[in-house]
Amino acid sequence: MAGANLAMLIGGIGMYLLLTLITRFAQTPHAAGYGFGLSTFVAALVLVPFSALGFVAGKVTPRLRRRIGASRQLAASAVVVLAAFALFALARSNITELLIAMAILGFGVGSFSAAMPAVILAVTPEEETSSAMSFNQVVRSVGFSLGSAVGGLVLSASRTPRSPGGAGIFPANGSYTTAAWIGAGIMAISAIAVAIATKELPMTGTEIPLAGGNMSTGVVRVGDTVRRPAGPWTPAVHALLSHLHAVGFHGAPRPLGIDEHGREILTFIPGTVAWPDHFHLLHGDGQLRHVARLIREFHDAVAGFTPPPGAQWQALIPADGDEIIAHHDLAPWNLIVSDPRWAFIDWDTAAPGTRLWDLAYAIHGFVPLTANPAYQRNDASRRLRLIADTYGLTERQRLDIIPLLGRRTQAMHAFLAKQAAQGNQPWAQLWQEGHGDAWRADTDYITKREHHWHQALLG
Ligand SMILES: Nc1ncnc2c1ncn2[C@@H]1O[C@H](COP(=O)(O)OP(=O)(O)O)[C@@H](O)[C@H]1O
Ligand SMILES: [Mg+2]
Repeated sequence: MAGANLAMLIGGIGMYLLLTLITRFAQTPHAAGYGFGLSTFVAALVLVPFSALGFVAGKVTPRLRRRIGASRQLAASAVVVLAAFALFALARSNITELLIAMAILGFGVGSFSAAMPAVILAVTPEEETSSAMSFNQVVRSVGFSLGSAVGGLVLSASRTPRSPGGAGIFPANGSYTTAAWIGAGIMAISAIAVAIATKELPMTGTEIPLAGGNMSTGVVRVGDTVRRPAGPWTPAVHALLSHLHAVGFHGAPRPLGIDEHGREILTFIPGTVAWPDHFHLLHGDGQLRHVARLIREFHDAVAGFTPPPGAQWQALIPADGDEIIAHHDLAPWNLIVSDPRWAFIDWDTAAPGTRLWDLAYAIHGFVPLTANPAYQRNDASRRLRLIADTYGLTERQRLDIIPLLGRRTQAMHAFLAKQAAQGNQPWAQLWQEGHGDAWRADTDYITKREHHWHQALLG
């Protein structure tokens, strides 16, 4: 963050310095031995290519930004301004050359300004982005006024010794060259400041695809972060994840904002995803208790959460109530087993729900309660009891959750059936692959054995 502001300050000085130099140069009368003697009004026309190309840069650079990332765009923009300085230092004998330098400067400034907000988003925690943006605006204006001050300073350091008709009034032609090279140096420093400020944000090239989920394509790891496609629900989900960390629940990734490609950034949690290949990590009673405790801790931590005003959730399946913001997909495929911290991932479908609705779903996945002979267990009742005891279900809750077990899996089946009928992806594909049948079969397995579950929980 400090680096981004430093880049803005230095860049602001450089950009405004060149603007000052060129307009002053154009207005200097021929009497000085250089200059074009343009009136203030005509000199203002020199600004036209500056504004026009600034506008063009705003239009054409977003595509570039998606390709190379905002921080590289920012550094490249500083280099473009540097090129304008170099051109002005080397060639300013006719108006056309001035106009070209102005056009290049305009493009560089436009592109620099367009890239800055995305860089700030990427380096600032989400709660602080708006204050960071406005602070950066202030830094920018300070840079601009310093820029013209630096111009005045360098130019006044040398007065032309023998300017006919007005000795000593105008800066020597050579001092414009000096000022221009100083400006070029300033822009080089700005580009370096950008590179340093954003070096912990690997932009491209180091994206490692993370497979395993059914839903999101394009989940990648970048350094110690995960990038996932964002949606209208992302701000609400990030508010939820920030809350969980603020109240000391660490069984979830921490949100780090939005990257320069518009993806959400989360902390990467090293470890092993328990499903489908590592369910043996949950065979032991201690391990199952660990999961139940984690769910209980999440539910207790979320109880004090007030969603931000106008929060939008991706509520896929209507729950049986809204006492908490539930996860809605607490399952071994969203559990990372690591030492010492276990964590649930994939919070995209967090939405209003109830503790029991969330827990009924988790029981299905973690016992598991399944018709599939490959996973079915003859100690299912005991594991169910272990989860209920560890979670700390009351007698009332035990009675209430029994019918919910089948209703929850049935709701999954109904949801997939509806999405498949409407051809909505990725669910239609899951339906095709037999997920609907599996949820249906599990529902039958669960409802036919309700007396077992009753016996296990209340017996
Ligand atoms: N925060 C994270 N830390 C570590 N790995 C993650 C994280 N988020 C996602 N992954 C990996 O990416 C895979 C898919 O991510 P997930 O968020 O579950 O997406 P999906 O919506 O496809 O289920 C996971 O199985 C896991 O391997
Ligand atoms: Mg997942």
